Amino acid sequence: MSTVTAPATPLTQLSAWKSLQTHYEEVRSLHLRQLFKHDPGRGTRLTAEAEGIYLDYSKHRITDETLKLLIELAEQSNLRPRIDAMFRGDKINVTENRAVLHVALRARKGEKIFVDGEDVVPEVHEVLDRMSAFSDRVRSGEWKGHTGKPIKNVINIGIGGSDLGPVMAYEALRHYSRRDMTFRFVSNVDGTDFAEATHDLDAEETLFIISSKTFTTLETMTNAHTARSWALKKLGDDTAIAKHFVAVSTNAEEVTKFGIDTKNMFGFWDWVGGRYSMDSAIGLSTMLAIGPENFRKMLAGFHAIDEHFRTTPFERNLPVLMGLLSLWYNDFFDAQTVAVLPYEQYLKRFPAYLQQLTMESNGKHVTLSGEHVGYQTGPIFWGEPGTNGQHSFYQLIHQGTKLIPCDFIGFSKTLNPLGNHHDLLMANVLAQTEALAFGKTPEEVRAEGTPDWLVPHRVFEGNRPTNTILLEELTPEALGKLVALYEHSVFTQGAIWQIDSFDQWGVELGKVLAKKIVGELEGKEPGGKHDSSTNALIERYKKQRG
Ligand code: F6P
Repeated sequence: MSTVTAPATPLTQLSAWKSLQTHYEEVRSLHLRQLFKHDPGRGTRLTAEAEGIYLDYSKHRITDETLKLLIELAEQSNLRPRIDAMFRGDKINVTENRAVLHVALRARKGEKIFVDGEDVVPEVHEVLDRMSAFSDRVRSGEWKGHTGKPIKNVINIGIGGSDLGPVMAYEALRHYSRRDMTFRFVSNVDGTDFAEATHDLDAEETLFIISSKTFTTLETMTNAHTARSWALKKLGDDTAIAKHFVAVSTNAEEVTKFGIDTKNMFGFWDWVGGRYSMDSAIGLSTMLAIGPENFRKMLAGFHAIDEHFRTTPFERNLPVLMGLLSLWYNDFFDAQTVAVLPYEQYLKRFPAYLQQLTMESNGKHVTLSGEHVGYQTGPIFWGEPGTNGQHSFYQLIHQGTKLIPCDFIGFSKTLNPLGNHHDLLMANVLAQTEALAFGKTPEEVRAEGTPDWLVPHRVFEGNRPTNTILLEELTPEALGKLVALYEHSVFTQGAIWQIDSFDQWGVELGKVLAKKIVGELEGKEPGGKHDSSTNALIERYKKQRG
């Protein structure tokens, strides 16, 4: 059990929570126009900077008092001791009785972090060294396929945390990746995913990484078996497996059963949650793409923010500030969602990655002690890269009836300088946050000569809150920092909500029911055991399928 639990007092009984409720009534109608007018220095004062990340949170509907109360809430919620408990290796994932130590994955050699009395840092580095040696062999062409050809194609098979991190990181760091190799990612049990990923590839030059923490996940194991048949059809006998399949897992027994020798397995540990695993061996495809040196730079980026989170006072602590601000809208303004808007094409899968990180972590309805929470927990995360989103859903953010706090992420330097593209891109980040905050009043609209009937349609109320997160350049370090920023923001919110951010029981029921239904679809189980809707749909599917 964790030595540090949530405070005995329910969240809504904490004095800071109660003060925030009263305070909310006082500030809810304040407009960012007023706040900026009365405090011209706000745009530089309400900012924080650490490890090359600049966070401008001045365009939030907050006053100094709001911040003070939110920080009090964090303190009364035992956030500091809970952070310490995580870094110490306490079993803070109480429902699974596990430590939560993704921070150990990026600990430097020589640091000490204990789980059940054993220092886990040496094991982490041992796996990293094995991954590096393997990556070097594959990248140099020394590792040959069964027929003697070097590996040109790498396919990661995994789902959830065993897919979203690798695919996001590959896309994000494509600029640093081997351009003469092909990297693909198969996750969906929909056969189309596998078929499209392999249709133009030569099995003789293809390496499959079967990534699964449990090595029992239906989608991954189905795809892994299909991959084996696909490869062996071309390569002949089972001895080819050793050259074309490696596994990343915590489950050596299942890996062996599948037919992969454990010497071709890269392990990790039950204290790494799936959605927190992209910097474990689950990142093998990332390392193959960008090389061990860049992978270690990414880990150093993670580590820098870990240290920042662990040691910096809350007032200047980036993940804490982001977590508290997100909670402010979620719990007091009743905002349902958060939009994450990276103005960086390479981060096109970042919103999808954050969806699992944030929603699987904080989509919980009971507290650590099993009581129903009496407040809102995790918001819905969504988003698209800018400027694309501007031409689809931003209309609703600007003029719709819902309050949607947004994270704008930008980089001062581009990796692909092309004419004035980057200035145009960044001008849009700045313009959007300005428009969202200050809008356009009816007077301003009228002054432009707009006829009276059209004025309401052209008014922008403004007062839409945003974070602007600005970094210099998208490097492997920067990516590590950005991911760690969100990981710890999620932690901050989960600690305050007094929930277990590290389990995911909510995914179980659907899995169990699907297994039952498969039996019926395949005619191995009698049908008609469900509700009338499900029964009818099963029948209709079977008929149409033929
Ligand atoms: O079903 C949800 C989940 O357990 C995620 O938490 C996890 O990332 C994903 O499935 C994949 O699990 P595994 O790596 O064990 O295949």
